[in-house]
Amino acid sequence: MKKIFFMTAGIILAATPLLAVEPSSLAKATAAAGRLNLEMRKSLTLSILKSGLAGSIDVCAKDAPAIMADQEKNFSLTMKRTALRVRNPENSPDGVEKALLEKLDGMLKSREPLPQEVTLFSTTESGKVRTLRYYKPVMMQGVCVGCHGAPDKIPADVVKALGARYPKDKGVGYKEGELRGIISLTLRENIPESEVK
Ligand code: HEC
Repeated sequence: MKKIFFMTAGIILAATPLLAVEPSSLAKATAAAGRLNLEMRKSLTLSILKSGLAGSIDVCAKDAPAIMADQEKNFSLTMKRTALRVRNPENSPDGVEKALLEKLDGMLKSREPLPQEVTLFSTTESGKVRTLRYYKPVMMQGVCVGCHGAPDKIPADVVKALGARYPKDKGVGYKEGELRGIISLTLRENIPESEVK
């Protein structure tokens, strides 16, 4: 797997799992993020066929948070979707997420392949608990264009419905193949006795 490293506020991000990351935590994160991607693609495609674009707004607005809540419960983690330009201000990126999004956007612009996943691993002050932060790029696909694409690609009834719910909507103007955002996960786990120094 391709590696990327970059420094942001003294934190090093590595595109491949660091050795210290327990496979079980990483496996949980991979499963939860993969599940969200898969379910969203499936639900959106089915819903758009059945109810049209304007009738599918709740798939991205309500189904995605519901799937994330399920994964949070199943795997004891926290999960969000974020991007450089967001539709819902509640999805705004934190500092690390913003730096990563900018880095990934830059890689895409210079035609470098993006990593499938990025992990950041940190140890808390007590030295007994550690935090894994895990990120998965979310790409713009054909099915997303009707709600996140250039304004002329979004039907008038969808523009109206989105405008009413998201007066500060910045989640538009994305082209197919561009980076729409990332899925961001945080997991906390006890460090096994054998690894405590
Ligand atoms: C039918 C309209 C619709 C379609 C199609 C759609 N979305 Fe969304 N999307 C939304 C809405 C509405 C929100 C705001 C959700 C919220 O309130 O959290 C959103 C939010 C998001 C967010 C969270 C960041 C933000 O901007 O708030 C991501 C990431 C995202 N969508 C990705 C996608 C991807 C990838 C696709 C295609 C696979 C897609 N969406 C297709 C309507 C749509």
